[in-house]
Amino acid sequence: MDHLIDITSLSDEDIRQLLDDAEWFSQQSHIPRLLKRKVIVNLFYEPSTRTRLSFEMAAKRMGAEVINFAAQSSSVVKGESLIDTFLTVQAMQPDAIVIRHSKAGSAALLASQAKSGLAIINAGDGTNEHPSQALLDGLTIKQHFGRFEGLRVVIAGDTRHSRVATSTLKLLSRLGVESIRLCGPQQLLPAAGTFPGVELSEDLDAALHDADVIILLRIQAERINDSSLPAAAQYNQHWGMTIDRLGRLPRQTVIMHPGPMNRGVEIDSEAAESSRSLIQRQVRNGVFIRMAVLRRLLCTDEGNESDWRAADL
Ligand code: CP
Repeated sequence: MDHLIDITSLSDEDIRQLLDDAEWFSQQSHIPRLLKRKVIVNLFYEPSTRTRLSFEMAAKRMGAEVINFAAQSSSVVKGESLIDTFLTVQAMQPDAIVIRHSKAGSAALLASQAKSGLAIINAGDGTNEHPSQALLDGLTIKQHFGRFEGLRVVIAGDTRHSRVATSTLKLLSRLGVESIRLCGPQQLLPAAGTFPGVELSEDLDAALHDADVIILLRIQAERINDSSLPAAAQYNQHWGMTIDRLGRLPRQTVIMHPGPMNRGVEIDSEAAESSRSLIQRQVRNGVFIRMAVLRRLLCTDEGNESDWRAADL
């Protein structure tokens, strides 16, 4: 594992180890400073709160230096291309670049140009993938249920344009959940057959009747030019997690959302803050998953892979 680009590129063993390592980090009162002398660049071309901050939090708590690049105050505004920006940053010899960009395939492009010893981490590439979000979703579900087998998962909202939906459904399928249903208005569902074995539905109440997990997603307005989309109030009534729907959820169902939330549209405040909600747990787990990813990619010079947890650094 030289880079983290998408879920498909991870082996089953990679996934198992990343989840186990993140769980281990979550249990530590003292985080070992495994990344001393490492330098990580956050190269974000799109806005972010959770992903950028949690990569920075994870890196700093493990002893790394972090440099944040903001595209809007860089030479990007003078016309410098992604690849020229990347080559410039690479020449300064960081250990990892965390990239978020609106273009699908941008992280893979950088990985194909990266010199040995530079790790590329995909923090979201257009509508393509957001693998560390999927891993933190998987960790959150594992912690709550203790298993993946037999779980019925509904992902509701804009699953057509969501990189979170793609990465998370690929990961949960690999981990053995019983079923995944994508639910939302027809314009926001992927084309039939895009994800074999995944059910599509426009009827949220029918989709929810036996769900264990409901993952709500915002409408990716920045990627859509469709005047036929339902208005916020209509969307909320048909596809939002309202107080009414919250009261009708099966007893075991938990609510998740990768953020940012649009309260009153895909989720009401009462649902976001209810005892069913794992949303704050997701945010917390984001730091531990990113610790596991950074350790895996940057701590390659230890003698024995299994010894690192015992290190007193
Ligand atoms: N879930 C997520 O990617 O959130 P941010 O856009 O705030 O990073």
